[in-house]
This record gives sequence, C-alpha cells and structure tokens, in this order.
Amino acid sequence: MAACCTMLILFIAFLYLHNTAIADLAIPTNSHTINQWLLDNTNPMRVELDAELAEAERNTIVITVNKYGKGDFRNVTDAINSIPVGNKVRTIIKIAPGIYHEKLLIDSSKRFVTFYGDPNSMPRISFNGTAKFYTTYNSATVAVNSDYFMASNIIFENTAPRPTPRMEGAQAVAMRISGQKAAFYNCRFYGYQDTLLDDSGNHFFKDCFIRGSTDFIFGKAQSIYLNCELRSDAIGFGVITAHGRDHKGLDTGFVFAHCVVNGGGNLFLGRAWRSRSRVVFAYTYLPSNLNPKGWDDMGFPWHQRTVFYGEYKCMGPGAVTNQRVNYSRVLTDRQARHFLDLNFIHASTWLLPPPKL
Ligand SMILES: *[C@@H]1O[C@H](CO)[C@@H](O)[C@H](O)[C@H]1NC(C)=O
Ligand SMILES: *[C@@H]1O[C@H](CO)[C@@H](O)[C@H](O)[C@H]1NC(C)=O
Ligand SMILES: *[C@@H]1O[C@H](CO)[C@@H](O)[C@H](O)[C@H]1NC(C)=O
Repeated sequence: MAACCTMLILFIAFLYLHNTAIADLAIPTNSHTINQWLLDNTNPMRVELDAELAEAERNTIVITVNKYGKGDFRNVTDAINSIPVGNKVRTIIKIAPGIYHEKLLIDSSKRFVTFYGDPNSMPRISFNGTAKFYTTYNSATVAVNSDYFMASNIIFENTAPRPTPRMEGAQAVAMRISGQKAAFYNCRFYGYQDTLLDDSGNHFFKDCFIRGSTDFIFGKAQSIYLNCELRSDAIGFGVITAHGRDHKGLDTGFVFAHCVVNGGGNLFLGRAWRSRSRVVFAYTYLPSNLNPKGWDDMGFPWHQRTVFYGEYKCMGPGAVTNQRVNYSRVLTDRQARHFLDLNFIHASTWLLPPPKL
C-alpha cells in the first residue's frame, strides 16, 4: 500500500516536472533545436487546447482532390463546397500534385480546414486576380475567413504581371488569411506586390518561402514567422513588410525569427503603412542589398514617433545597424522576450503540428 502510494506520488511528480519542462514557449536561440522544441510544445493532447478544437481533432476526416479524377473531387473548389456550414471536424483536403487554376474563398462558417500536399511534389493553387479587378483584399488566389485553418506543403500563387510604375491597381495577393489561429508549414507564396495578406488573427508560419517585390507581407495580424525564406524580387525599391497596426492598445505585429532574407533590389525591412506598425526581426540573416537605413516611413513622417521597428541578434552584411533610421531600435533581451515566444500568438491554446498522412 505505502509502496503503491509512493509510486503514485513519484509518477505525479514526474508528470508535473515533465509538463513544466516542455512548457518553454520561448523561441530557442539555437536554430538547430527548433524542430524538437516545437514538437514538445504542440502536443495535440495537451489540456490548454480550445475545447472546440480538441473535439474537432478527435474526429479528423480526409477528402482527396485529384485533377485527373483519382480522388473524391477534381478541384479544390468542389472539395470546399462539400464541407458543411458549421463544420465541427478537422477536415484535411489532400491535394494531389499539379496546378489548380482556381480562386478560392473559405468562408467563416467552415472552420478546421487543412490543405495538405505532397512535400516532394507540392500542389500549386494559381490565379491572376488584381486589385484593379477585385480590390486588393479580394484579389487573393486563396482567401480564408475561417478559424483554425492549416496548410502544409502547398504553393499559393498569384500570376498577375509584375507591376510597372504606369500600371494602376496591379497589386495581386496570393494568400489572404483573415481567420484566427492559422498555421502554415512548408508553404510557398509567389507574387510581386502584396503577395501575402496576413490580414488579422494569430498566425504561425514555419519553413515557408515568401516571394515578392513591395509590401509582400502586409496586414494587421499578430504572427510569428519561423525559419522562413523571404525572397525579394524587387527591381529597385523593395519592401518586405507593411504592418497595419493602428492603435497602441493592440498587441499585433509581425515577428521574424531564424529567417533568411535574400534576392535583389534596394531593400527595406518594412514601411510605416499605419501609425503603430510593429515588426521585429530576430536571429535573421540580412543581405548586403538591405538599405542601411533599414526602414521607411512611407511618406508619413509623423508615424516615425509611433511605429515599433526592432532588430535583435540578426546577422549577415545587412545586419549592421549604425546607419538605421533613428526611429528603429535594437532590442534589449528584455524587450525581445515578449516577441520571441509562442505566447505572443497565444499558441498554447491552438497551435498543432502539421498532419502526417
Ligand atoms: C470543378 O469541377 C467541377 C466538375 O467536377 C466543375 O463543374 C467546376 O467548374 C470546376 N471548378 C473549377 C473552379 O475548376
Ligand atoms: C488573367 O488571365 C486571363 C488569361 O489567362 C486574362 O484573360 C485575364 O484578363 C487575366 N486577369 C487579370 C485580372 O489580369
Ligand atoms: C530623426 O531624424 C530626422 C531626419 O532624418 C530628424 O528630422 C528627426 O528630428 C530625428 N528624430 C529624432 C527623435 O532624433
């Protein structure tokens, strides 16, 4: 009896220690430990998960899309249409390799949707909507208004031509994510101006590739980009981010950690699209063609006093900060901590690893 109780107490103590040991949501300094750290912190059985999400994950279904007819549907549009309004189960749309010329909208009634592709032959969802024909917001090849969206091994593309100075409304979004609590793993986003509209909500991007020329990651969201490649395709002036925070009470912002910036152009990290624009680059490689000023006020000098543009432990020839604009900051450990943590996107309540199919 006593031995049994001792065993039980030891076991409970083990569980407790084990749980506290894994609950370290601070992004590791060492990039080689990220994958294991993320697995430890995205256990699908953990107790903090939103109840509806936990329930949806217990009832996962898979539907298949194959453009040659060997699946449940021939295109993604039909697969999305098959999901019921008020969907309550994790619905994985497994998309076979190929190019899908479709313009997709997942409305807010269809939660818990996952797009899943083959990592060795990623399906490409491709369209050419522009701001002129649809408005920037509605130009997206794929637009998601629902919560708990995930995508893994998918290429999102807008093939509208590169804007020239004479073109009106040539902005063309490849993906707009407006739902809460979305994760993208190993996805690729191709466009020029306004490639990725990271519109609103808490979002996580890992191992992604994002290509564009100006403001190619923009929106009002609260997001972490981990181990992503940001490829400038700019000829001349280029900007990676245009974050749209406009009120000091909001905790929104874009955080880039362990990323790589590359490509051409006279490149800036971000510009002050809205007064409280907030962006942090940490542990990220910055190339020699990054403009030494780093950031741009987008013609709103009064935003200089209110934006929050931070850099922390970046490397590469572009990471030298002594010629930066005077409204950018090199973050202290204490200032960086808030951003370099999965708690910044409240991940403990929703972030899950990519599915294994
Ligand atoms: C999807 O496929 C259905 C028939 O299988 C077709 O009627 C529809 O036009 C297709 N939609 C798109 C956007 O390709
Ligand atoms: C998209 O491409 C088609 C031809 O494939 C063209 O007719 C259409 O005008 C293009 N749309 C936009 C918005 O550029
Ligand atoms: C920052 O630099 C600009 C010139 O680029 C100057 O007008 C402004 O007064 C400076 N602000 C501060 C707070 O030093």
